[in-house]
Amino acid sequence: METSKLKTLALEASKNAYSPYSKAMVGCALETSDGSIYTGCNIENASYGGTICAERVAIMKAVSDKKMKLKKVYVYTKEGWPPCGLCRQVMSEFAAPDLEVIIGDESGKEVKMKFSDLMPLSFTPEHLQK
Ligand code: THU
Repeated sequence: METSKLKTLALEASKNAYSPYSKAMVGCALETSDGSIYTGCNIENASYGGTICAERVAIMKAVSDKKMKLKKVYVYTKEGWPPCGLCRQVMSEFAAPDLEVIIGDESGKEVKMKFSDLMPLSFTPEHLQK
């Protein structure tokens, strides 16, 4: 899918954020290797630790449909926040070899990179194979 369409979906998803504590509105839209599209928003919890980021919500939705390979991930916040370390680790589990990550913000600025540049030397399932 075109990046501009993914951005629109990520922005829309951010509006569904449940974030009464931080008030942060994060949206993610991703494409899997078969062309399927999933979105997610951050969902906070009164325990704080039960909070889940927008990226992981979208990834869990995809994986729960057996869409295991991420091709393109768009993350939108007004401020252009990069994905947190935990989300990067979860991305590394399901990243297609050429996974592209795009970080967008309200001003229209976009940072695009290969996942391997966002998280070099990531720990992957291959490390656990004998
Ligand atoms: N958040 C995300 O949704 N994705 C990230 O990669 C960084 C942080 C959310 C979690 C929490 O609801 C709020 O932003 C503040 O950390």
